[in-house]
Amino acid sequence: MQQSAEQKIAVYPGSFDPVTNGHLDIIERGLKLFDKLIVTIMFNPSKKSLFTVEERLELLEKSLEKFSNIEIDSFSGLLVDYAAKQKARAILRGMRAISDFEYEFQMALMNRRLNREIQTVFLITGTQWIFTSSSIIKEAARFGGNISSMVPPAVNEKLKKKLSTFY
Ligand code: PNS
Repeated sequence: MQQSAEQKIAVYPGSFDPVTNGHLDIIERGLKLFDKLIVTIMFNPSKKSLFTVEERLELLEKSLEKFSNIEIDSFSGLLVDYAAKQKARAILRGMRAISDFEYEFQMALMNRRLNREIQTVFLITGTQWIFTSSSIIKEAARFGGNISSMVPPAVNEKLKKKLSTFY
């Protein structure tokens, strides 16, 4: 069989509002499969974000310092167009529970219809992160809950500051 010298690149897209330990878990797993991951903040029209794209980029930079073979970026446009531009052969997504499935399934099939060359790869989140999401972490933090074990330290600090200016 012919060996390809081509790098295996995947885009890991998301709102990352903000990045959580669950995302870090997927990145760690993804790096075992791909030579390079491009972690990209993208626009999800059905979500209202707490952090600006610049803030989210900064939090990703700080939180992903320990990883190599990572690139951090932001893009507003179609995910498959971005992936093709980056020469990525895959889109990486994390799957927590069955409740994620319908949305992820629909998005993966739409992306496949838009570009048949790009595959969506799902990795199952570590069980300790199955109940967490950026949204529920923000809600807990908003009402004074201790979420420090669920997010990188930089995110914990930033969330405290951001929420103190909100309320
Ligand atoms: O972290 P999220 O909010 O679940 O990520 C969803 C995201 C940002 C990956 C998705 O909304 C997305 O891909 N947005 C870019 C526009 C696009 O290509 N949508 C999918 C095909 S219609």
